[in-house]
Amino acid sequence: MLINTTEGKQFDTQGDQSILDAALKSDLVFEYSCKNGQCGVCKTTLLKGNIVELQTQLALSDQERNDDKILTCCCAAVTDIEIDAVDLSALHGIEIKTLPARVSQITYLSENIVEVTLRLPPTAYFQFIEGQYLDVIWNAIRRSYSIASISSEKEITLLIKRFENGQMSDYWFNKIQANDLLRIEGSKGTFFLRDAEIPLIFLATGTGIAPIKSILHRLEHDPDYQQKHPIAVYWGNRYPAEFVWQADFHKLKVDFYHVLSKPVTDWAGETGYVQDIALSKHSNLSEYAVYACGSNAMIQSAKQQFLTSGLPENKFYSDAFVQSF
Ligand SMILES: Cc1cc2nc3c(=O)[nH]c(=O)nc-3n(C[C@H](O)[C@H](O)[C@H](O)COP(=O)(O)OP(=O)(O)OC[C@H]3O[C@@H](n4cnc5c(N)ncnc54)[C@H](O)[C@@H]3O)c2cc1C
Ligand code: FES
Repeated sequence: MLINTTEGKQFDTQGDQSILDAALKSDLVFEYSCKNGQCGVCKTTLLKGNIVELQTQLALSDQERNDDKILTCCCAAVTDIEIDAVDLSALHGIEIKTLPARVSQITYLSENIVEVTLRLPPTAYFQFIEGQYLDVIWNAIRRSYSIASISSEKEITLLIKRFENGQMSDYWFNKIQANDLLRIEGSKGTFFLRDAEIPLIFLATGTGIAPIKSILHRLEHDPDYQQKHPIAVYWGNRYPAEFVWQADFHKLKVDFYHVLSKPVTDWAGETGYVQDIALSKHSNLSEYAVYACGSNAMIQSAKQQFLTSGLPENKFYSDAFVQSF
């Protein structure tokens, strides 16, 4: 079967391969994040032909289904089809590889957040664009984690939150030892800075700050980047102890807001939801881009509110830390 895009790209697909996987196999990169139907980032329109659902398209509303929207990570083509997905050429050449990785450093930044540094074999050539994530595989358990370090660093740093009774959390918080051997698969996802030459708003909840830290550090260390537009970061957490990263930029000028979801005494930062605080501080969003990472509830609410407030639809980028199936 052939898959055609409105941009004029064409590629083959076979059997029950998802449209997204078929594209990636043909070295085309469409927007995606979770790959399991929850985040909605891979949403596109089916213009011609028929598809079958391989996994439930959880992120689609009934209205969207009626409007021929599909999630490319969940559907396979059963005839030749045409879709309106855009190929992201910035990610061309970034292969998805499986590599061994040794635990190099483990730092508990709070009771429920650990920073883990991974060392790759000296001959491994692991490429990523700041903002992307990788999968960690341990004891047949696979979980996704955003890369918090930048690509010029030798080791890869992850920022990981503990989940009650979480299988991988049990490893990160109870079992991990320096020098442990893990496997990583990546780099993955399409959350990366598309255009640094416009005003930027970053929204994060919890460890959703990880890819934003990476993107900002990349800009800080890019000798060709001269900041001409404002950058604002709104980072939300439930408890003050969860603000485990203190941004310290020399070159970048960033308006950084710490936002607690519930008020506590002696709190000097903001209180509420990151998207509400951000919207209260910016008007005329038509020139902005928004990058949101962390809980799916925050992302869905932020997207709806920012688009209603005038942000162009194609200027909202997100990476939802949804659960693995
Ligand atoms: C693209 C992507 C990037 C991610 N990046 C990061 C990252 O940088 N740092 C980070 O800490 N996490 C990140 N995550 C989340 C991570 O992959 C795991 O889902 C999370 O660490 C829980 O795994 P676990 O094995 O400990 O818990 P599990 O054994 O999977 O689940 C344990 C319990 O927690 C609940 N649960 C699990 N995951 C979630 C969730 N995401 N939201 C709400 N409830 C949940 C389950 O319902 C279950 O009750 C990312 C997820 C995705 C999809
Ligand atoms: S719903 Fe397809 S990538 Fe998340």
